[in-house]
Amino acid sequence: MKTIWIVGAKGRVGKALMRLLDERQYKLFETDIDDVDITDQESVNSYMRITRPDVVINCAGLTDVKRCEMYPDEAYHVNALGARNLAIEVDAYEAKLIQLSTDDVFGSGLTAVWSEFDHTAPRSVYGKSKYAGEQLVSSLCRKYTIIRSSWVYGIGKDYVSRVLDAAEKGGELRVSASEISSPTSAAELARAIRVFIERDLYGVYHVTGTGRCTRFEFAKTILEYAGKSDRLTLLSREAAEDLRPMYSVLNNMMLRLDHVYEPMHWKEALREYFDELEGAER
Ligand SMILES: NC(=O)c1ccc[n+]([C@@H]2O[C@H](COP(=O)([O-])OP(=O)(O)OC[C@H]3O[C@@H](n4cnc5c(N)ncnc54)[C@H](OP(=O)(O)O)[C@@H]3O)[C@@H](O)[C@H]2O)c1
Repeated sequence: MKTIWIVGAKGRVGKALMRLLDERQYKLFETDIDDVDITDQESVNSYMRITRPDVVINCAGLTDVKRCEMYPDEAYHVNALGARNLAIEVDAYEAKLIQLSTDDVFGSGLTAVWSEFDHTAPRSVYGKSKYAGEQLVSSLCRKYTIIRSSWVYGIGKDYVSRVLDAAEKGGELRVSASEISSPTSAAELARAIRVFIERDLYGVYHVTGTGRCTRFEFAKTILEYAGKSDRLTLLSREAAEDLRPMYSVLNNMMLRLDHVYEPMHWKEALREYFDELEGAER
């Protein structure tokens, strides 16, 4: 039985992993910042020493893009040095590190999809700190898998809940009609991660829902699937590019080449997410 340590288990991806991974198949350890702060090398070291995981999945991060811009030290501390601390310990115990990363490592100006082999050029502190984390992981750990994703939603505070909260209040919501990416369900991401737990696949992989849409279309589909289209008027706004790339679509090339996993179309995954939510409420 493999031992898995899920770091950042209270976040969207961490929760999806906890729901997916079967405790009859894996010995699971889950921690968040109150249990093991990954910026504290000694804490990481002693947790590794006690639990001896085969696989560590780093879902922890400072993911609020605006907060990262305001507090760059904090962003680099968690997203870069936290990843470094895990990489050092994982390597020392000859385990495997699965490091979550983001489409924000890419720059702007292209309307082509980004593959794992494209040049990175992060612009925001969030993107730069996550990229620094990738670099530290790849240089300090022999057995690593870096997984970049985009527009991740799942149980917890996310874009889906923001749109639904706005619908509860009613009125209007202005949403960008120019920002384009691929929404990714945390459950789908977790299913792909499960394959990486089992198979010896190393390097950088993109894992996003297939297809692409604007923020506006995403919000419209969320309201439609939640049966709340009449509760909120969506107004399209032309957003100027600021911290996040306007066009940020990842090509899941490495998933295809290595026959890892075929993510669903983003609409299908969103439908599944609402079906699960409804099932949980019943
Ligand atoms: N959400 C997206 O759209 C998206 C897209 C692409 C990639 N990703 C990446 O995927 C990963 C998981 O994303 P997510 O959406 O699940 O993030 P999330 O919901 O923000 O969860 C991150 C978790 O890490 C915890 N954390 C923060 N600092 C920590 C520290 N020093 N030590 C231990 N835990 C700490 C957070 O605790 P607090 O909440 O208390 O800070 C939170 O529970 C991240 O690496 C993110 O960069 C996310």
